[in-house]
Amino acid sequence: MNSTGTILNKKPALNGHRKSPSVNGVPKQTKLEIVTLAHEIRNPLTNINLAIDVLENMTKEGAILELSDIIRRNSEKINVLVKNFLHLNYIGAESAGIISIDEVLNGALEMAKDRIALKKIKIEKLFTICQCDVFINYTTTKIALLNIILNAIEAIKNKDGVLTIITKVRNGKCIITIQDNGIGIPKENIRKLFKPGFTSKLNGGGFGLPAASQILHSQKAKIRIKSEENIGTQFIISLNLAANTY
Ligand SMILES: Nc1ncnc2c1ncn2[C@@H]1O[C@H](COP(=O)(O)OP(=O)(O)OP(=O)(O)O)[C@@H](O)[C@H]1O
Ligand SMILES: [Mg+2]
Repeated sequence: MNSTGTILNKKPALNGHRKSPSVNGVPKQTKLEIVTLAHEIRNPLTNINLAIDVLENMTKEGAILELSDIIRRNSEKINVLVKNFLHLNYIGAESAGIISIDEVLNGALEMAKDRIALKKIKIEKLFTICQCDVFINYTTTKIALLNIILNAIEAIKNKDGVLTIITKVRNGKCIITIQDNGIGIPKENIRKLFKPGFTSKLNGGGFGLPAASQILHSQKAKIRIKSEENIGTQFIISLNLAANTY
């Protein structure tokens, strides 16, 4: 990394003779390509925003304006995610701080709010009265929890979808439960969940959970999964409380 923090002048670590190292099964040499791809994603996003501007100037129709607002806010979210991704990869991870886990969960829910509204899912928040303060990196932890929340939303197929989020303090740990009443996970799939590329979805990438587990484990979190087919799934994450981190 040079003084401006960019890694673009680094040569890709391509080596035709030696087996390249990998992180969670993803070859390290692809990092440069991934960073470049992240850059490229921002170009069509700019075009989408420009097209929405034009569309909004062409109509006063409420339904169209409502939909264009959803497109604009979501493209802005992609933009922020890509910017954060580039930031983490160029300048190094944002440092950790003492943060209330409620704040992180509310941030993740905010990012998922359009999907929650579109599927008419009920949210039950049972946050502990005394705050769960943890020593974590806000941005990456929010992305990890968002990935788990998105899976919960995607698993809900019925009309009476409920997403329950519970935080509590137990034995010096902050315990987060993210629970859905969706399709559940077949027993034989539970051990495959964190393998990059494992997906049961038509358009799934199988990268949400491996990324979430990498982020959470790097913050010394533990993840447990309880699931029953056609009943639902619980992801239980335990993090050290800030007071017990030092
Ligand atoms: N709450 C859940 N309910 C049911 N199945 C789940 C749940 N969470 C995860 N899964 C299963 O785990 C698989 C892997 O999840 P992961 O988030 O890694 O990938 P994905 O959701 O399929 O794709 P991506 O997140 O890359 O869009 C999912 O395809 C699904 O089969
Ligand atoms: Mg997913």
